[in-house]
Amino acid sequence: MRSVTVKTSATYEVLIGSGLLQKAGEAVKKVISPCKVAIVTDSTVVHLYEETVRQSLTEAGFSVCTFVFPAGEASKNIHTLSHLLEFLAKEEMTRTDLIVALGGGVTGDLAGFGAAVYLRGIPFVQIPTTFLAAIDSSVGGKTAVDLEAGKNLAGAFYQPKLVLCDTDVLQTLPEVVFADGIAEALKYGVL
Ligand SMILES: NC(=O)c1ccc[n+]([C@@H]2O[C@H](COP(=O)([O-])OP(=O)(O)OC[C@H]3O[C@@H](n4cnc5c(N)ncnc54)[C@H](O)[C@@H]3O)[C@@H](O)[C@H]2O)c1
Repeated sequence: MRSVTVKTSATYEVLIGSGLLQKAGEAVKKVISPCKVAIVTDSTVVHLYEETVRQSLTEAGFSVCTFVFPAGEASKNIHTLSHLLEFLAKEEMTRTDLIVALGGGVTGDLAGFGAAVYLRGIPFVQIPTTFLAAIDSSVGGKTAVDLEAGKNLAGAFYQPKLVLCDTDVLQTLPEVVFADGIAEALKYGVL
C-alpha cells in the first residue's frame, strides 16, 4: 500500500492499494472514533461494493446507514442534495458523525457538498471507485452540484479526512468510464 500526504487547509492521507475496501473500517478508525456513518453511493456501486464497506465499518465499531441515488451526472443536482440532507437529518446524524462517499466523481462531489453544508459541516471520507475519481475528484476538496444554468455552479471547498483508493475496484469499470480517467491522467501529464 502507498500513502500520499496531502497538505491543504487540512492535512490528510490518500491510501492507495489492493484490498483497501475490506480494511476501510480500520483505516477510518484512525481518523475518527467509532460513530454513525452515512455511506453515500449510487445505484450501480451499491450492488458492487457497499456490502464490503458496510461490513468493514461495522466490524470496526461504526454504525452504518446508506443513502443511494440513481447513477449518473443527471443526479448531481440540488434535488438529490436536498434528499441527501433530509436523509441525514432523519438519521439524526450529528456533527461528530461521518459521511463516506463511495463511488465516482458524481458521488464524491455530491456527498462532499452534503458534508460541507449539513450542520455547517460534518467530517467525510472519500472512497473513489472510478479511475477519474481516484486520480482527480477525490483529492483537493472541490465539491459541487450542477444547476440548470450549468455544471458545478453551486459548491464548496471542503477537504476529506481520508481518501481510500482501492485499486481492485477498477476491474469492474466499463471500458468507456476507465478511458475517461485515462484521458484525465494524460491531460495532467501534458500540462
Ligand atoms: N471535484 C473535482 O475536483 C472534480 C474533478 C473532476 C471531475 N469531477 C466530477 O466528476 C464527475 C465525473 O466522475 P465519474 O466519471 O467518476 O462519473 P460517475 O461518478 O458518474 O461514474 C461513472 C459511472 O461509473 C459507475 N461506476 C463507478 N464506479 C464503478 C466501478 N468500480 N465499477 C463499475 N461501475 C462503476 C457509476 O455508477 C457511473 O454510472 C463529474 O460530475 C465531474 O464534474 C469533479
